[in-house]
Amino acid sequence: MSTFTIDTSTSRATPSPVPGKRMTAPSIRARKIDGKTAEPIVLLTAYTMRMAQLLDAHCDMLIVGDSLGQVIYGLPSTIPVTVEMMCAHGAAVVRGSWHALVVVDMPFGSYEGSPEQAFATASRMMKETGCAAIKLEGGEAIAPTVAFLTQRGIPIMGHVGLTPQAVNVLGGYGARGRSSEEAEKILRDARAIDEAGAFSIVVEGVIEGLATEVTRAVGAPVIGIGGSAECDGQVLVTEDMLGMFERTPRFVKRYDDLASRISEAAAAYASEVRDRSFPTAEQTYQPK
Ligand code: KIV
Repeated sequence: MSTFTIDTSTSRATPSPVPGKRMTAPSIRARKIDGKTAEPIVLLTAYTMRMAQLLDAHCDMLIVGDSLGQVIYGLPSTIPVTVEMMCAHGAAVVRGSWHALVVVDMPFGSYEGSPEQAFATASRMMKETGCAAIKLEGGEAIAPTVAFLTQRGIPIMGHVGLTPQAVNVLGGYGARGRSSEEAEKILRDARAIDEAGAFSIVVEGVIEGLATEVTRAVGAPVIGIGGSAECDGQVLVTEDMLGMFERTPRFVKRYDDLASRISEAAAAYASEVRDRSFPTAEQTYQPK
C-alpha cells in the first residue's frame, strides 16, 4: 500500500505545491568536482513529517537514520530497529518534504546476508516510503552489495568509521582510527565503497585528520559526523543539535536547549491546569 502521492509531472512522491525541485543522488554526487565540493552539503536526521517540514528548506538531504531506535523508541542501540519502523518513519519524512533528498537507513540484519537480501529490503523500503536513496553501514565486506544495488537502480550512501550497527564487534562508540592499522582499514573501506558506486559516504566518529584524508581519497562526497570541517558535508542527529538530551557526544554542537524549553512549557501548562487559569474564555466555545 502506498503512503504517498505521486506527482505525475515528476514521477516523485512530492506532496508539495513546488514539485520537481527535489535533490537527487546524481545531483548530490555532482557537487564534488575534481575532489572538491565548493559549497558543503547540509544534512540532518528526520523521523517525522513535521520535523521534515521544518528542516527541508535548509537541508540538501534528510536522513531517516536508524538512530530513531534510541531517539524515538528508547531502545539501547540500533540493533533492535526493524524494517517496519524504518518504512513508517521514512514514508512520514517523504510526505513532509519536497526539496531534500530523503535517504533511509537499512537496519541491522536486513541486508548483510547477501546482495539479494539487501536488494529485497532496499526495494521494499523505496516502494513503501517513496525515498530515493538508501544508506547502509560497512566497508570492504559490503562493497559487492553496494555495487549490486547501484547497478540495479538503488542509489547507495555508505557509512564507514564508527558504524553503530557493529557496536558489539567494536566494543563501544569511541572514536575510530587512532592506530595506523585502523586508520588504513577505514581508508580502504571508504575507497571500496566509493569504487562500488556509492553516491556519497558518511564518515562517523574518526579522528579529524583521518576524516580529512578520507574526504580527499574518494570521488564521492564525504559527509562527516564527528569528522572534520574539511568533509564535503556535515550531518548531525537533529534532536542532539536541538538540545533535546542532557548528554550528547563531543562532536555535537547544541544550537538550542529545547529540552529545557519543553520542560518549562509543560510546567507552565501543568500549573495553569491545577489553578484553573487554563482554559480561559479565549480557549472555550461560547454560544453564538
Ligand atoms: O542513524 C543515523 O542517524 C545516522 C546518521 C547520523 C548518519 O546514521
